[in-house]
Amino acid sequence: MRSSSAVAYLDPLISSGSRPNLFVLINTVVTKLLQSGVSSGLPEFKTVELGQTNSSSRVQVSATKEVVLSGGVIGTPHILMLSGIGSKGTLSSFGIKTIVDLPSVGQNLTDHPLVQNHFLVNSTQTFDDVLRNETLAQQTFIEWNTTRQGLFANPSGGTLGFLRLPSNSSILSEFGDPSSGPHSSHIELIFVNAFGPVGAPVPPNGHFVTIITAVVSPLSRGFMTLASSDPFDKPLLNPNYLSSDFDVLTMVQAIKDMQTFMSTGPWKDFVIGPIGALANSTTDEQLQFYARNTSESISHSIGTARMSPFGADWGVVNPDLSVKGTHGLSVVDASIFPSIPECHTQAPTYIVAERAVDFITARNGLCTC
Ligand SMILES: *[C@@H]1O[C@H](CO)[C@@H](O)[C@H](O)[C@H]1NC(C)=O
Ligand SMILES: *[C@@H]1O[C@H](CO)[C@@H](O)[C@H](O)[C@H]1NC(C)=O
Ligand SMILES: *[C@@H]1O[C@H](CO)[C@@H](O)[C@H](O)[C@H]1NC(C)=O
Ligand SMILES: *[C@@H]1O[C@H](CO)[C@@H](O)[C@H](O)[C@H]1NC(C)=O
Ligand SMILES: *[C@@H]1O[C@H](CO)[C@@H](O)[C@H](O)[C@H]1NC(C)=O
Ligand SMILES: *[C@@H]1O[C@H](CO)[C@@H](O)[C@H](O)[C@H]1NC(C)=O
Ligand SMILES: *[C@@H]1O[C@H](CO)[C@@H](O)[C@H](O)[C@H]1NC(C)=O
Ligand SMILES: *[C@@H]1O[C@H](CO)[C@@H](O)[C@H](O)[C@H]1NC(C)=O
Repeated sequence: MRSSSAVAYLDPLISSGSRPNLFVLINTVVTKLLQSGVSSGLPEFKTVELGQTNSSSRVQVSATKEVVLSGGVIGTPHILMLSGIGSKGTLSSFGIKTIVDLPSVGQNLTDHPLVQNHFLVNSTQTFDDVLRNETLAQQTFIEWNTTRQGLFANPSGGTLGFLRLPSNSSILSEFGDPSSGPHSSHIELIFVNAFGPVGAPVPPNGHFVTIITAVVSPLSRGFMTLASSDPFDKPLLNPNYLSSDFDVLTMVQAIKDMQTFMSTGPWKDFVIGPIGALANSTTDEQLQFYARNTSESISHSIGTARMSPFGADWGVVNPDLSVKGTHGLSVVDASIFPSIPECHTQAPTYIVAERAVDFITARNGLCTC
């Protein structure tokens, strides 16, 4: 069974009532952080302004020790900008007074692009029937819920492969190696026992496997910015996927690696063949077009409040997660990653959060024993 931070950390505290100082406000939006004073020569941000709608009254709450912003890769830079923390040029164009000029806020948005490659297979033991038939889906769910057996006991997408480009690859000689090190991957393969993605219309007949190919060390960078100074107005995103040729060429290599793997002996009599645009794409040029035409996000974005060394003239947070040029404010979420991990970002985000607990308790003289 999959767990999550809400189930593992929050639910036990809420249901036991053991934290009388824990409040979760629903249907409430942080409209901005307010400067509450000056400390050690730096603007201090210990007051949070909240609202429920565009035109509702605003409520302010103040922290005695510090404010921890965990708004996520889009929400965190959005709140920082609304609070006057961001690029002076951008903020002034929206009539927001700059308190801390940090041009990196919202920049360096990085994500893993993926392509879903579909194959027709000679099997009935895929998820396609339950995706097409709600009665069967209910029956299969009840079987799992009562016995932990059946199709749902082995969730689709649980088998992954991580690969490097070959060391003599012309892609590496052209672009250098953007991965974290000689044992980190460039490519991920995810094996899905159905026509993916879940939620897309499944063809009326047939059974499928989907092999997702992803570039996990991309060089493309996008950004987010404000659409307006209204906190209820969604910000603007430009993910800039595949703007670096490294990402396109590596995606093509990922598809070729996947095809090599799918043509090996154990798949014989199981895989009937590729379908859709993949079946028509054989040359490198066609595969590049296919990659550009079908790429989408795996929702692993990071980097919009990226960490940099103490004293650096770029970046958003210091190595202790405090926001540069401020006092009393830190960011704890995936926006602080200085580069994208070559893996799924959920566990690394929990690692950042656990590490943040050490920083926060140490600097406030709190005990976690
Ligand atoms: C984006 O990241 C690079 C390092 O990867 C850094 O040199 C650059 O300053 C960053 N850009 C911004 C606007 O923060
Ligand atoms: C849907 O599944 C139910 C339960 O297995 C089965 O009785 C029914 O025939 C299926 N419907 C179709 C259209 O296949
Ligand atoms: C699944 O099982 C639990 C008890 O094991 C039960 O409380 C729950 O209602 C069941 N869910 C459904 C949708 O049947
Ligand atoms: C890389 O090396 C392998 C064998 O080690 C070889 O088969 C392949 O052709 C080489 N590729 C390039 C681009 O040199
Ligand atoms: C905010 O309120 C104004 C006036 O009521 C409305 O025109 C605007 O669409 C609202 N913005 C959002 C994002 O809801
Ligand atoms: C499907 O698999 C069976 C053996 O399990 C084999 O006899 C049959 O030829 C296969 N069909 C196709 C289309 O590959
Ligand atoms: C693949 O090529 C065939 C023949 O040119 C064409 O009929 C079909 O529409 C193409 N399929 C896709 C998904 O592009
Ligand atoms: C490009 O993608 C669109 C939308 O998924 C699809 O309808 C079309 O067939 C694709 N074109 C080619 C040549 O693969």
